[in-house]
Amino acid sequence: MNYVDRMQKVAVLGAAGKMGSGILLLNAIEVADLSLLPENKGKTFVVYAIDVSEEALSGLIQYVRTQVLKAAEKKINWLREIYKERADLIENGQIIEEYINHVMSIIRPSILIESAYHANCIFEAIKEDPDLKVSIFKRINQNNSNQPWFFTNTSSIPIQFLNEKAELNGRIIGYHFYNPPAVQKLVELIEAKNTLPELKAFSLELAKKLNKIIVESNDVVGFIGNGHFMRDIIHAASEVERLKSQYGFVEAIYMINKVSQEYLVRPMGIFQLIDYVGIDVCSYIMSVMNQYLPQDQIVCPLLNEMLSLGIKGGQYADGSQKDGFLKYEKGKIIAIFDINTKQYVSIEQIQNKADAILGEKPTNIIAWKAVVGMKDKDVVLQNYFNELQKMNTLGAELAKAYGSRSKAIGKYLVSSGVAKTEEDVNKVLMTGFFHAYGPINNYFV
Ligand SMILES: NC(=O)c1ccc[n+]([C@@H]2O[C@H](COP(=O)([O-])OP(=O)(O)OC[C@H]3O[C@@H](n4cnc5c(N)ncnc54)[C@H](O)[C@@H]3O)[C@@H](O)[C@H]2O)c1
Repeated sequence: MNYVDRMQKVAVLGAAGKMGSGILLLNAIEVADLSLLPENKGKTFVVYAIDVSEEALSGLIQYVRTQVLKAAEKKINWLREIYKERADLIENGQIIEEYINHVMSIIRPSILIESAYHANCIFEAIKEDPDLKVSIFKRINQNNSNQPWFFTNTSSIPIQFLNEKAELNGRIIGYHFYNPPAVQKLVELIEAKNTLPELKAFSLELAKKLNKIIVESNDVVGFIGNGHFMRDIIHAASEVERLKSQYGFVEAIYMINKVSQEYLVRPMGIFQLIDYVGIDVCSYIMSVMNQYLPQDQIVCPLLNEMLSLGIKGGQYADGSQKDGFLKYEKGKIIAIFDINTKQYVSIEQIQNKADAILGEKPTNIIAWKAVVGMKDKDVVLQNYFNELQKMNTLGAELAKAYGSRSKAIGKYLVSSGVAKTEEDVNKVLMTGFFHAYGPINNYFV
């Protein structure tokens, strides 16, 4: 079966979820575009959008329409060419409307898993539950006579485990999109021991069509992205533990969050990132990683303590941020959770004191947003980190320790066989986490 034939019947499981909705959108657009090519006239193309939540599925349709409109505007010239023989389509608006309706006509929303029994490609983005994923894969595989290929978006579960338990005989690959899938460039690709070479070749071809950057990770729990992120969290939490007795818990969270964002020139502080992903999600990923890598001690009591108090972070259905370590108002951090009093303390109350403890900021400090777009980014960063290395304020010391730890984690991912190269580790952090530079660098020892 060639690429086009295989893409004729696609299913997305968990299509109404955070990741599934983006994965559905990308696939629906790719499938619709294939169907519009003159050479594919007469072929039927379908994308099944499968989710257990009927309500979420209706919201999904609205999301997809809006996003397809944006995509159509960007490729209006291509659409004009495609629809050139349609005398009834003159204005851009008419062409775009036609295209949106076409994409929507390919999508079949369904609450029935049985819809996947017809698919050739099954993209899975249901919740991170190994038993649930295995039982669904098994069921589809037993009832689908197309020998379907499975693309799982799991963040942590080894692909070999899913392959063996669901008896897929190599018809599975880890296709790990980053959040949000429609925007983030990175897809981590993870093969099980016997993943079919033709499935891998197809995955690479699809990534090119979706305009994604592939980084191959070995099949080690957490893969490269979470392998780094989870260990980064553990470092941050242990620094909070160290600082809290002297400066207070809230101040320690503030300081580490600030250092990991501003001093390290990252897009978000570590505690904001944990909130964004979800404290529960991070804790769950750690528990899966710890199960497979007990010697690595992937545990973070601080996350579990927050969860026991009912503080989870994550997002509301409209995409806005729920409160976690930090409290947000219109996207801005306004307070920090105090684990002792179980109340949020406003930033204003502690900011001046905590900033004074961190000490003078490096004079060369520059915001992540300004750096990422710079042509001479490397020179700017080198100058900045040279200055940082010479400073001995608490802020600089915390930043140096953080940067060094991040580098050590990156190197460990290579030496322990998770990543194939140091460049792959850097690529994952730069394309999946939007870092301005990779963790394996000359800025830190
Ligand atoms: N959220 C992230 O940042 C992120 C990033 C990369 C990978 N992932 C992985 O992607 C997967 C999905 O995560 P998410 O954050 O999108 O979760 P989510 O909870 O937002 O979405 C899961 C969706 O699956 C649906 N679902 C649950 N059981 C189902 C079933 N039996 N059949 C069909 N649909 C079902 C739910 O209704 C929901 O819409 C997980 O494996 C997660 O580890 C998440």
